[in-house]
Amino acid sequence: MKPFYITTPIYYVNDKPHLGTAYATTTADVLRRFHRLFGEDTYFLTGTDEHGQKAQQTAEKRGLTPQQHCDEMVLNFQKAWGAIDIEYDFFFRTTAANHKQVVQRCLQKLFEKGDIYADSYEGWYSVSEEIFYTEKDLVGGKSPTGKEVIKIQEKNYFFKMSKYQQQLIDYINAHPAFIAPDFRKNEVLGFLRQPLGDLCISRPKTRMSWGIEIPFDNAYVTYVWFDALLNYATAVGLEQPGREAEFKKWWVEAGPLHLIGKDILTTHAVYWTTMLFALGLPLPRQIFATGWILNKDNAKMSKSEGDVVSPIDIANLIGLDELRYFLIRDVHLGNDSPFSLELVENRVNSELANNLGNMLSRTTNLVEKFFAGQRPAYLADDEASSALKQMALALPAIVKKEVENMRPSFALEQIVLVLTAANKYLEEKAPWKTAKTDLPSTGHVLAVTLEVLRIAGILLSPVMPRKTKELLSRLGVNEAKWTDLQKWPALAEGSAIQKGEPLFPRLDLNQVKG
Ligand code: MSP
Repeated sequence: MKPFYITTPIYYVNDKPHLGTAYATTTADVLRRFHRLFGEDTYFLTGTDEHGQKAQQTAEKRGLTPQQHCDEMVLNFQKAWGAIDIEYDFFFRTTAANHKQVVQRCLQKLFEKGDIYADSYEGWYSVSEEIFYTEKDLVGGKSPTGKEVIKIQEKNYFFKMSKYQQQLIDYINAHPAFIAPDFRKNEVLGFLRQPLGDLCISRPKTRMSWGIEIPFDNAYVTYVWFDALLNYATAVGLEQPGREAEFKKWWVEAGPLHLIGKDILTTHAVYWTTMLFALGLPLPRQIFATGWILNKDNAKMSKSEGDVVSPIDIANLIGLDELRYFLIRDVHLGNDSPFSLELVENRVNSELANNLGNMLSRTTNLVEKFFAGQRPAYLADDEASSALKQMALALPAIVKKEVENMRPSFALEQIVLVLTAANKYLEEKAPWKTAKTDLPSTGHVLAVTLEVLRIAGILLSPVMPRKTKELLSRLGVNEAKWTDLQKWPALAEGSAIQKGEPLFPRLDLNQVKG
């Protein structure tokens, strides 16, 4: 089976984690957990982008060295991701010693190959975005996204990006799923209709010294994006003697799936891809651009806009797994999506408290009451239980397909549909009534809903690792295993079934807010 390698953008170390970056990281975490559940060998990379003018300036203001500043700020990310159950394999820091070597080796290679040359540069620079603009890019004297720019004129080194323009267009056309969603691919192809300039990849130390030194000119450091993009390859062994097999496995066989925000599409789809062409390396498996989490004014939630919501605070308020569920369920991957407590409340109450939670409570309470907490006998299926069984057994393949197609919200929707059908079955069979007249068929109904709960618990485990662990343990299942999804019934007659506190207490955020 092909291994699976997924990455998040590496976050600017200057910012604090907020709901927007937590969204990106949670999505990657959930996708990786799904692929692991499918039985694939997986690798999940996240980290921080630490060089550049912003970090240097902030460190100066704080009276710290840039490294001290980064060492301190990075803890915010590691703490936040730990608190929301992000299970990365490696946390990348661009200030790591091996990364410096890799970046320098790559620069040297490209220089020797003639793909890097010196030239004088004049243009406009946005410090907050770390991006150069030409005169014609500016809108009202500011960057296209409205950021302040400063005029700059200096000698610099350039990467011959233009040389690879046609190769990139051909590649994108030959690999229709390479840039996703489709409308983003069209955006990139549209961008590539104009002649591509070369990329300025150096900064004179006199202006900015917090970066990786250019190996062939020590008066310069590397442009932060050139350094940052290489993180994805350094992490799995690029240009590091002794790590060739690892690199082959994750870079060549698996090929990274870069989950990024739509605001950094060009840097990935154009800068990064042409860098890889120049280095003679295979392109990623896919570049998938997500939308933004919007604040109540329908604007991008971001640190610099001052409306940050701490993911830890939110998780404390609404529940950690509830937050993870909301982020995956409510956002259609690729589109912008609003966040508000009302939306979370509706989603959690209708699908987790009422639907899943209620079925668990009802089923386990009745098993306790009428069957001494032991799983009742599973009899021959009638029409209703047979229909439900077919639905539940078909679910894993549907979920897998949706996840593979980067539609995790639709995967969850399918699970909810089966839970709704099971709740309807429970309503119609009314085991709380029939227990007095027909205990065996009452037992069958409960054995059926226990199986549905088991399957839902396994399939939801990548999204809600804690809650599903608890759910499954109440059914006596220790581990969420993909192969168990084809067993029906899987729970043994007479096995212990525990009831417990409601798994998903109803949210009443009016109370919380008041
Ligand atoms: N350091 C660069 C990425 C380098 S990758 C080699 C960077 N960092 S960032 O911290 O500004 O943003 C990282 C990612 O977070 C971006 O993909 C961005 O889209 C995403 N998000 C930031 N705010 C967001 C929302 N409000 N909603 C969704 N994603 C958000 O760019």
